[in-house]
Amino acid sequence: MCGIFGYLGKQQAYPILIKGLKRLEYRGYDSAGISIFNEKIKTFKCKGKVSDLENHILQGSTAGTMGMGHTRWATHGPPNNINAHPHKSQHGHFVLIHNGIIENYSRLKKKLLALGYRFESETDTEVLVNLIEYIYLENKVTPEVAVRLALHKVIGAYGLVIQCSDAPGQLIAARKGSPLVIGIGKDEYFVSSDVTPIVEYTKKVSYLNDGEIALITRDTFSISTIKDKKLVPVFRQIDMEIGEVEKGDFEHFMLKEIFEQPRTIQDTFRGRISKELGTINLGGLFEVMPRLVNAKRIIIIGCGTSWHAGLVGEYLIEEFARIPVEVEYASEFRYRNPVILEDDIIIVISQSGETADSLAAIQMAQETGALILGICNVVGSSITRETHCGVYTHAGPEIGVASTKAFTAQVTVLTMLAMLLGKKRKLLSEASYGKFISELQEIPHKIHDILSDNAHFKSIAKQYKDVDNFLYLGRGYSFPVALEGALKLKEISYIHAEGYPAAEMKHGPIALIDENMPVVVIAPKDDSYDKIVSNIQEVKARGGIVIAVVNKGEKNISKMADHVIEVPTTNLALMPLLSIIPLQLLSYHIAVMRGCHVDQPRNLAKSVTVE
Ligand code: AGP
Repeated sequence: MCGIFGYLGKQQAYPILIKGLKRLEYRGYDSAGISIFNEKIKTFKCKGKVSDLENHILQGSTAGTMGMGHTRWATHGPPNNINAHPHKSQHGHFVLIHNGIIENYSRLKKKLLALGYRFESETDTEVLVNLIEYIYLENKVTPEVAVRLALHKVIGAYGLVIQCSDAPGQLIAARKGSPLVIGIGKDEYFVSSDVTPIVEYTKKVSYLNDGEIALITRDTFSISTIKDKKLVPVFRQIDMEIGEVEKGDFEHFMLKEIFEQPRTIQDTFRGRISKELGTINLGGLFEVMPRLVNAKRIIIIGCGTSWHAGLVGEYLIEEFARIPVEVEYASEFRYRNPVILEDDIIIVISQSGETADSLAAIQMAQETGALILGICNVVGSSITRETHCGVYTHAGPEIGVASTKAFTAQVTVLTMLAMLLGKKRKLLSEASYGKFISELQEIPHKIHDILSDNAHFKSIAKQYKDVDNFLYLGRGYSFPVALEGALKLKEISYIHAEGYPAAEMKHGPIALIDENMPVVVIAPKDDSYDKIVSNIQEVKARGGIVIAVVNKGEKNISKMADHVIEVPTTNLALMPLLSIIPLQLLSYHIAVMRGCHVDQPRNLAKSVTVE
């Protein structure tokens, strides 16, 4: 979704805004724009990336110590200069940037058209800025009151920053559904969709909650509700260093994040597992552990890669804790009127913690009395505030739109949870529990080994960078890995790819197989090994190309496959943490070789904050 950023302080706003927008660009990159206040408000905007905006502004004067900027992920109206934000009101009193969707914008637009307002763009956002101006002029109220009154009429989601030409030195910010955080610096303030552009200036922040408005002036800022109830801001310290949001020596954030996984998995189990004591401790779930241990059913909810991690979680929890698990796409769960029982446990998985479908599913489940837990990567994000409690993945900021290190961190948390529940439900012996803990602690080293084979994955990518389709097959724990591998390739290389349970191949997808169809088969030495050998023979019989992911030293499949990717052996339940790594790199290299923008794939955004 869109990235919004505002600055008010003593420094020149322009360079701060441009730098901030570049840090937020992973949220949307269809168009970019800024408005700077210097005696009057100057707005610059254009289709494309922030770098295009810089070129577009070259001649313009950008002096001023207050301003705001926007990077867009188009919802209403195609990416072009007119639909780009900021949007100005008809009589020029207000300029506004928006992240979200105004659902009743066409009704409001009709009313404003009847009042003589004219619209340049196709956006819902331009309707809102004109509504604010209409109320401001009609009621002769302050800019903040005009914003408040206008938001009473709005249905939908928004993160907003607003400037009023009659109120120099004042920024107004408001949120409902879309994330917004305020950074408090020395004599300066920042407003942003997330903390990544703020960390280099200050670590002191205050998150806006749904239904809150912030009024920021040069000396102070205040928060109140849309219903005008004054609030006391809650301050937090950001636990993040600037280096974490920079590429360092890597060409892309995605590659950096793939290579960070040995550390991020270690960070995710640091202080939670102890080999010496043979224990797993998930402090965030301590209070609710009795309910978890006696759960009748667990419902895991997520979207995209988080849903795939949830599917691995289903296999793990059912195998080791023998608790029935259902894995739900948040958007389907939200609208299909599911049966949620009071003693159900709901686990919502989200990297960003801002995915609207998952948030909406939580808000629906809150009415049922079920316990709602979160597995999340962004501290202070909405999902962490809407769930009863949860577990943070410690993967650090994930900037690449294609999720990689967050997936393995989510699977690491689900693995720890399944083992812990298995132990507490007396289904796992002390010995096997201890063995799992030590095998889990070896995973980072084993991933290191796999990463050292990067050149091999690159050579395979070179051979198949021009194909139009890929098929990914796996059984058991490898099925979700097949889905995730296919998603990675789809989203960054734009090659059509499907993940399938290997046995399902015979029920349809086998028709797709010919000499142009690479088939990635994830085939660790597990109970279904013989079956997957037959699946590979069926693919070869149709002239298909087999890229097999096998355990080190495997001989049989290695003779049949066109390409072999070896990964170290570990406990079968931990294999997803290893077998996904080569698939992440395979898709990365194919996308780079196809000249795709790996970190900012077309049409995608890092967190989907509208339904
Ligand atoms: C994955 O690479 C994609 N970026 C996308 O599918 C993502 O997993 C999905 O939007 C869920 O995001 P979340 O984990 O932040 O909720």
